[in-house]
Amino acid sequence: MTELWLIGIGTGNPEHVTLEARRALRDAALVMVPRKGPDKSDLADLRHLILAACDSPAPVVEFDMPVRDDSLPYATRVARWHDEIAQIWAAALEKAQPQGPVALLVWGDPGLYDSTLRIAARLSPKPGLRVIPGITALQALTSAHAIPFNTVNGAVTITTGRRLRDHGLPPGADTVVVMLDGECSFRHLDAPDLRIWWGAYLGMKNQILASGPLSEATPRILEMRARARAEHGWIMDTYLLRRGD
Ligand SMILES: C[S@@+](CC[C@H](N)C(=O)[O-])C[C@H]1O[C@@H](n2cnc3c(N)ncnc32)[C@H](O)[C@@H]1O
Repeated sequence: MTELWLIGIGTGNPEHVTLEARRALRDAALVMVPRKGPDKSDLADLRHLILAACDSPAPVVEFDMPVRDDSLPYATRVARWHDEIAQIWAAALEKAQPQGPVALLVWGDPGLYDSTLRIAARLSPKPGLRVIPGITALQALTSAHAIPFNTVNGAVTITTGRRLRDHGLPPGADTVVVMLDGECSFRHLDAPDLRIWWGAYLGMKNQILASGPLSEATPRILEMRARARAEHGWIMDTYLLRRGD
């Protein structure tokens, strides 16, 4: 393999795929696609749909994602998981012997809360890297609600559900965007002047949105989220918190 191309594909809408990404998919010698397990099989299906829509002639190699060992401390667990994924990629590449660039379809943008670059850095010998940007869940959220990402001259903090739970609202930022929150950590915040703009399955056909003052919107979002998760078997959601407005 001469090069690894990490191609941002957006957040679930095939129309998020840029012209640059389409061209790269057509030019790749091999495409690697993770199998996500039965709960998220519609996400793997979406990757195949995108490949078909781009007329990509490249052979596709599917690989299984390893399971994280929850008994380990968080940082060790994640590092070990990345090591295992790198080994799986290396084995798949060794078997496929691609004669040109290898493409990986990356959800959203490869640089935002995604470890593909960190996993690629573990490969030996190191391949050349090309990153093709994609539409992120942040953009999908603010455009779905038709709101600006930032206030005038304001700072935005992007954080995770885990950090919000452990440390509360980051000090100083007037806008906070939260990703990777499987536990609705906003429900523990005691901030009467906060508003929330929430979205799940952003960009997809089943997109759902809710917004309003945090205290009023929280029970509504919890109910919508639980219902949607039960219906689809999986959920990805993102939200923006802002004072006033
Ligand atoms: C591993 S991160 C990947 C982020 C991705 N690289 C991006 O640029 O948006 C997964 C998190 O992104 C957010 N996310 C991704 N796709 C989403 C979607 N279609 N709707 C809502 N949130 C989404 C969720 O917060 C989810 O927990």
